[in-house]
Amino acid sequence: MGKLDFIYKRQSIRKYKNIRVPREDIMELIKAATYAPSPKHQQNWHFVVIENRDLINEMADIVSRSHDRLAEMAKNESDRELYLKLKKYYILFKDAPALIIVYGKPYDMIEYKILKEGGADEETLKDILAPQSDAQAIGAAVENFLLGAAAMGYGTCYMTGPTHAKREIEELVGFNKGGYSLMAMITLGIPDDKVPQQPARKPLEEVVTIIE
Ligand SMILES: Cc1cc2nc3c(=O)[nH]c(=O)nc-3n(C[C@H](O)[C@H](O)[C@H](O)COP(=O)(O)O)c2cc1C
Repeated sequence: MGKLDFIYKRQSIRKYKNIRVPREDIMELIKAATYAPSPKHQQNWHFVVIENRDLINEMADIVSRSHDRLAEMAKNESDRELYLKLKKYYILFKDAPALIIVYGKPYDMIEYKILKEGGADEETLKDILAPQSDAQAIGAAVENFLLGAAAMGYGTCYMTGPTHAKREIEELVGFNKGGYSLMAMITLGIPDDKVPQQPARKPLEEVVTIIE
């Protein structure tokens, strides 16, 4: 077994067996998520676990309607058709035994405060925010969760597609904690017997530059 097999084992799983995930496994995975790095250790995340089928179905209906509305706005038919074809990837959480909604809070950034109060121009302020450190921390936490889940034999899918209905989902879930908003979703369950092949990666030469 290779040292990094725990990484290569993960792939997005979009179909699950109809088996409940034990609560202690979910909590262990959330604990693993919280061991991710975060800027200035602000741990700007909160995880809402949803197992209630009615709530998940209602959420899928909300996302589906929002998706259709967005498709209707397309200025040309090919965009509309393409977007409608993607819908199944936005509502697949409907069939997941557990759904984890990941909320995030903006990074409290001292550099931004200093620059803003010091009268920095818009471009400088935009540049300092561009790395989106708060979103990076959420991504790190989600990845910990996904890798942990794969190591425990679970399948997951990292999802942000449904966030076009972010406000409506937030209202439905009813989770309120100052400054936190919906950043991502994670589906969790035991993978279906038929697991599709993971998409190939770009060759390393295309994504690596070494400066000696
Ligand atoms: C930020 C982010 C958002 C994603 N959102 C979705 C989504 O809404 N629906 C979906 O089916 N997959 C989603 N994915 C999964 C990607 O499609 C998937 O990671 C990619 O195709 C590579 O496949 P793999 O995860 O099996 O390696 C998302 C992945 C990331 C990192």
